[in-house]
Amino acid sequence: MIPLLDLSAQYRQIKREIDVAVSRVIESAQFVLGPDVRAFEERFAAYCGVKHCIALNSGTSALHLALLAAGVHPGDEVITVSMTFVATTAAILYCGAKPIFVDVDPRTWTMDPNLVEAAITPRTRAILPVHLHGLMADMDPIIDIARRHKLFVVEDAAQSHGAEYKGYRAGSLGDVGCFSFYPGKNLGAYGEGGAAVTDNPELARRITLLRDWGQESKYNHVVAGYNYRMDSIQGAVLRVKINYIEAWTTARRAVASHYDDLLAGSQYGRPTSPPHSRHVYHVYAIQLADRNKVQKTLQAAGVGTGIHYPIPVHLQKAYANLGYGRGDLPITEALADRFLSLPIYAELRPEQVAEVVLRLKNPCSVDAMQSEIQRVHTLAR
Ligand SMILES: Cc1ncc(COP(=O)(O)O)c(C=O)c1O
Repeated sequence: MIPLLDLSAQYRQIKREIDVAVSRVIESAQFVLGPDVRAFEERFAAYCGVKHCIALNSGTSALHLALLAAGVHPGDEVITVSMTFVATTAAILYCGAKPIFVDVDPRTWTMDPNLVEAAITPRTRAILPVHLHGLMADMDPIIDIARRHKLFVVEDAAQSHGAEYKGYRAGSLGDVGCFSFYPGKNLGAYGEGGAAVTDNPELARRITLLRDWGQESKYNHVVAGYNYRMDSIQGAVLRVKINYIEAWTTARRAVASHYDDLLAGSQYGRPTSPPHSRHVYHVYAIQLADRNKVQKTLQAAGVGTGIHYPIPVHLQKAYANLGYGRGDLPITEALADRFLSLPIYAELRPEQVAEVVLRLKNPCSVDAMQSEIQRVHTLAR
């Protein structure tokens, strides 16, 4: 069996440290925010190359508060993409604002900056690019458009811890960067978690107020806020895990490069990583015409795969009232029909990567494949 993701393998590597950190929180009886969360905030801000990090209870909360802090009000419009997890859109709707979708670049699968300017109206307040699968959107033109039109840029970096664009880390280029620490993310908590990062002290102050009921001091509520605080246990887990994120990212990039080599010349479309980008491969997605059939074959052979995401947001039933339909975002729609995410995690061994590719390339000839797998295993030893 080769799962899509193996969080137990990661836990085995850091079990002692995690167990000590979690026990310490339980013994301290401080379960919300507290010293571990504060220490993690400092580490994560430095990791992203920004001054402020506000730890929250999810990536969705980070997006919601970033937009509120940027002054997104009911009736405003926020330009974003549909090629994302629904949370990006939901956060805009939580503010009473309207998501305006633009299509993605067929090479990078992230927001096509050439389409942004035409989507701006007098109601536009912010641009919300998504760093999909671990690759940052083309930020220079997006930020240039935002400056010229006096718009905020909120980065959805939920999938892109440590990704870089021209040497700048994800989250550090927009006004606010939003991260998720959902367990399966490259930096994952042991429950829900998220963070907003920014260099802007006023935005940091507003987000900090909003995450804790708008309290300036205990029971002194100066704005109507939310209960979006990070748990102390998640802070303690993340404080341990942040020491490993660079090693894990290097290992993920090695897995991706191995897939790239083995899939070169095949009929499968592979992720692109422009030379100025550091892709962190939260997802390694290939493109193929008979995706659903191949996924079933791989599943039968014990190889876990995923689809990120099978139905773009603008075609989801829940968001039908936004008024979009099939044909509105042709590149997004074509990708959603063709994406297949292959197993990727730091502990995935080279011979397992080879096995996934062999099964992809030869789904039928099981006997031939068995002997080839045996041969690859022997070579790998
Ligand atoms: C692109 C993107 N944005 C936002 C989110 C929301 O993060 P969370 O699940 O922590 O609320 C996710 C999580 O999967 C995501 O992938």
